[in-house]
Amino acid sequence: MVTPLLPYGRQDIDDDDVAAVVAQLRGDWLTQGPTVPAFEAALCEATGASYAVAVSSGTAALHLACLASGVRAGDTGVTSTITFVASANAIRYAGGAPSLCDVDPETGLVDVASLEAVVTRLAGEGRAPKVLIPVDLSGSVAPLARVQELADRVGAKVIEDAAHSLGASYDDAGTTRRAGDGAHADMAILSFHPVKHVTTCEGGAILTNDLAAAEELRDLRSHGITKDPSRLGPVDGPWSYEQQRLGFHYRITDVQCALGLSQLKKLPRFVARRRALAARYDAALSSSPLSAALSPLGVPAGVASSYHLYVVRVRPRDGEGLAEIAARRLALYSALRERGILPQVHYIPVHRQPDFANHGLSGGDFRGADAYYAGCLSLPMFPAMRDGDVDRVIEALTAFVASGR
Ligand SMILES: Cc1ncc(COP(=O)(O)O)c(C=O)c1O
Repeated sequence: MVTPLLPYGRQDIDDDDVAAVVAQLRGDWLTQGPTVPAFEAALCEATGASYAVAVSSGTAALHLACLASGVRAGDTGVTSTITFVASANAIRYAGGAPSLCDVDPETGLVDVASLEAVVTRLAGEGRAPKVLIPVDLSGSVAPLARVQELADRVGAKVIEDAAHSLGASYDDAGTTRRAGDGAHADMAILSFHPVKHVTTCEGGAILTNDLAAAEELRDLRSHGITKDPSRLGPVDGPWSYEQQRLGFHYRITDVQCALGLSQLKKLPRFVARRRALAARYDAALSSSPLSAALSPLGVPAGVASSYHLYVVRVRPRDGEGLAEIAARRLALYSALRERGILPQVHYIPVHRQPDFANHGLSGGDFRGADAYYAGCLSLPMFPAMRDGDVDRVIEALTAFVASGR
């Protein structure tokens, strides 16, 4: 029997998802129909946000969120260097210049002291950031309340990059908040790429509690056009519409939203399964021999991660530098692949990307990010995994550690 490949993530599509898509294809609306707002209402229900604007990708969501936050040519914005490049690119799409801050190597989340230093420096140069983009890496939640405090100091907006954290929650001074609910952010963005918690093949959304921002985002996703009679000037007839500013074609289709609606119904089960798989990994990693060699990525106290990713870190041996840790991470990556297990690295720090280095972003103190990056590895984590799949990964990790590499 051929052993199946075990990727780090993959979608979970059931017959009822297929049926929902087929029914949509057979109906009247492929795009610009009622399933888009139905999906948006379900996203509000799932997250607690008042408004959701569904778009063609998480990247499009970030771009529009930056525009609706007022980022324009010459403005600055800050995100952390451990993220997918899209979080930083969005600031550039809006004409702004991103700055990067460091992360806490134990959690991969924004290091608030580093963020504060960057914000203070930019403000001192007369270029206070228009936007701060904390990233909920791996399904954890960034320290949003503290980021919001910093943002308030300089009049910046907060966009929570919740691409990884749908279904996560956190304790906020005794109140349980959900990722994306807007308690400590002006907007949050989601991604529905197949490895995420729910998929629309490609897709994304912006969540907000601000009606004016939601209306602006809806206009921007469709060329900057409005058909709302109350917002039109003199009209030629009932067909009238106005392009009131330059927008984009970032619409999502009704077919995608039919899939998304069907998937969202399973979100509680998907998240519960991810947490159970994480608990199985945690248990194995907490005892010998794995505990001496590897440690799971930390989750801050009070956060209930929804485990988009399950990240382990290679523990440094006495006197080891980052290059040695990175070499052992590469050996582990290769050893797993030899057994049909396909781990991944999330992420190469943005400041190491040539296109960002060319924009002057390679400098700075990124010690936390460099330490995190040297040893991180994302193990298979997706709801259709069986307990036996986790055991297979644990066996492979144990064999690697026993080999002394
Ligand atoms: C943290 C983060 N932000 C934004 C995005 C962009 O989402 P999308 O791929 O849907 O454009 C991703 C995608 O992987 C992501 O991981």
